[in-house]
Amino acid sequence: MPEKRESAIIAALFSAKTTVLQVKTMKPSSATAISHPNIALIKYWGNRNNVLRLPSNGSISMNLDGLFTRTTVTFNKTPEDTLLINDHPISGKGLERVSSILNLVREMANIHDRAEVSSANNFPSGAGIASSAAAFAALAVAASRAAGLTLSEAQLSRLARRGSGSAARSIPGGFVEWQMGTGDENSIAFSIAAPEHWNLTDCVAVISAAHKKTGSTEGHAIAGTSPLQNARLADTPRRLDICRQAILGKDFETLAHIIELDSDIMHSVMMTSNPPLMYWQAATVQIFHQVREWRAGGLPVGYTVDAGANVHVICLAEYAKEVEKRLRELPGVRDVLVAGVGGAAQTV
Ligand code: PMV
Repeated sequence: MPEKRESAIIAALFSAKTTVLQVKTMKPSSATAISHPNIALIKYWGNRNNVLRLPSNGSISMNLDGLFTRTTVTFNKTPEDTLLINDHPISGKGLERVSSILNLVREMANIHDRAEVSSANNFPSGAGIASSAAAFAALAVAASRAAGLTLSEAQLSRLARRGSGSAARSIPGGFVEWQMGTGDENSIAFSIAAPEHWNLTDCVAVISAAHKKTGSTEGHAIAGTSPLQNARLADTPRRLDICRQAILGKDFETLAHIIELDSDIMHSVMMTSNPPLMYWQAATVQIFHQVREWRAGGLPVGYTVDAGANVHVICLAEYAKEVEKRLRELPGVRDVLVAGVGGAAQTV
């Protein structure tokens, strides 16, 4: 999206804020929220409880500015919950997953109305750009506000987690850590540094905008079938410490090495699970080689990949233009999305 148009949309979203805040005290039945997707720097893969989405390990991410999901929830007397994503009506599993979050909200607010949910992304969904993270974070904020609840950041993070684990991390702003916790109450995410702390940029090399064959919910469920998952989990506290310290100390070289190691370890688990999951394509691997070559040549870059083929190339903001240009020249790269560090989910 051209920069001007994007800032106009964001300005329009934020100018609506005053109105909604005034309605808040009147217990609104409708609310709109926006939330950014996030890119995991230390990955979450595998649950110790699939229903509560309690993760097998802690994780760290950064929110992606400029990419967002905007969701409106309206509670009314319609007979069923309804869901529109990018103007398309959704039924079946997608709607059920949304209804399960609405049920939690209805229970907390002690209301019985059904809801109309309308959601739109400004980025391709289902291709490793964590659309479900932004979607469930925006849903948690909009639905709880529409139901007249005022939840804390921790409560919102916990609620969003029930829709998609990584959504817990799209609630707070900037650089975020999701602690695995001891149970449902304290498996929550919190900010470890504000967006302004470090000017990083994620240049997302889009290789495929298609929906992946195996979604992360199914992937988490089979993580334990890989003989490598236990070794991955045992080493995760060490990688979390290194990553956290690299972010706090703005040490790019250390960050680049640890995010590549962590991403490669997660994909090793994916590839060796039963059934095996192979998200990489030839162009994905080609970019790994390029990124390491560029770094050896003095360009501060590092790669990480979620459950898809797209490669997130993290760099210092002042090198983003150069990184974007180089990525666009590579075969198999259809587009490059460029995102700085984003803020917290919020009502608009
Ligand atoms: O939140 P989920 O269930 O979509 O899982 C996300 C899994 C990864 O994106 C691969 C890693 C992560 O930590 O975001």
